[in-house]
Amino acid sequence: RRYSIAVIPGDGIGKEVMPEGVRVLEAAARRFGFALDLQWHDFASCDYYLKHGEMMPQDWKARIGKVDALFFGAVGWPDTVPDHVSLWGSLLQFRREYDQYVNLRPVRLMPGVPCPLAGRKPGDIDFWVVRENTEGEYSAVGGHMFPGTEREIVMQETVMTRFGVDRVLRYAFDLASKRERGHLTSATKSNGIAITMPFWDQRVEAIAAEFPGVTHDKYHIDILTAQFVLNPQRFDVVVASNLFGDILSDLGPACTGTIGVAPSGNINPDGTHPSLFEPVHGSAPDIAGKGIANPVGQIWSAAMMLEHLGEAEAAAAIMAAIEAVLSTPAGRTGDLGGSANTRDCGKAIAESI
Ligand code: NAI
Ligand code: MG
Repeated sequence: RRYSIAVIPGDGIGKEVMPEGVRVLEAAARRFGFALDLQWHDFASCDYYLKHGEMMPQDWKARIGKVDALFFGAVGWPDTVPDHVSLWGSLLQFRREYDQYVNLRPVRLMPGVPCPLAGRKPGDIDFWVVRENTEGEYSAVGGHMFPGTEREIVMQETVMTRFGVDRVLRYAFDLASKRERGHLTSATKSNGIAITMPFWDQRVEAIAAEFPGVTHDKYHIDILTAQFVLNPQRFDVVVASNLFGDILSDLGPACTGTIGVAPSGNINPDGTHPSLFEPVHGSAPDIAGKGIANPVGQIWSAAMMLEHLGEAEAAAAIMAAIEAVLSTPAGRTGDLGGSANTRDCGKAIAESI
């Protein structure tokens, strides 16, 4: 087995945590006997923008070529490049051009990570948020009329297609069917949003019929956010539209502690395009350059990537190594009250594999 992977560190602490992610990937490759063909790219970064006047070269797709996955750090350096320019010019291009229609984030309480919700221990919170990543509320359909006048009107449409809704629901039900509890929760708001959300609910019922082994329920988004905080144990797989999923996929990891450990996948499940794996956090300009960033989000993203590529055993070994290292104060970085720097933590996880 050989995997070709585009490695894109990006900006700030992306450049510090990426070498640790790669260190752990290489350790897993040695242990489990697969080969990695890693191509490092300096584009999709604000440094590249300052040199070339654009976040990525016009032919970025050709330069990346045929890869099995993209491994991404973080992008953004607001002092020199506005965030909407850096984000639209890089990550959002990947998501759209590669049709990464699932945004997948685990919400799992890890050992050694103080839980902001009182009384929870590792094992209590363990679920996935599946966010629709290409349509829904984030459409560019709408208009702005009579700007600056008293007759000013703005509107923006939600666009849901049966194709787009069904494919993300099917992914979520399939994920639930592979889990022990086999339960899916759908985020809705069909009491208030009376056209698109009833359609979403209706498609949930239709796809549910394809997965008789999966139980399901639905919550309106307002009470669902409350339940994330009050009763996170009750969730297994949570599926949501683009906007609701955006909110839930930040709230979920926040309920389990530091942003430094959370990973994510932007996934094209059909395999027609490569998927992209990245930590949830950004470039953290406030701590960049000090070598103290927590590399676990990047390393956990590596585990998700290997799982996606079919290396389930290697992915599980990385997760076990993360848990072992986070259990000791000497293995944790400063954001978790430990004494390790970025490199110590990455090395300890790689060695544990
Ligand atoms: P951020 O995630 O970079 O930082 C938020 C806070 O969390 C900071 O105090 C930071 O020091 C801390 N933090 C983040 N990651 C950490 C880690 N691995 N270890 C220890 N502490 C960590 O979010 P912020 O400050 O809002 O954004 C900074 C830049 O990153 C902006 O340009 C933003 O657009 C970009 N960004 C990029 C993302 C991406 O590449 N997917 C996601 C979020 C933000
Ligand atoms: Mg968000």
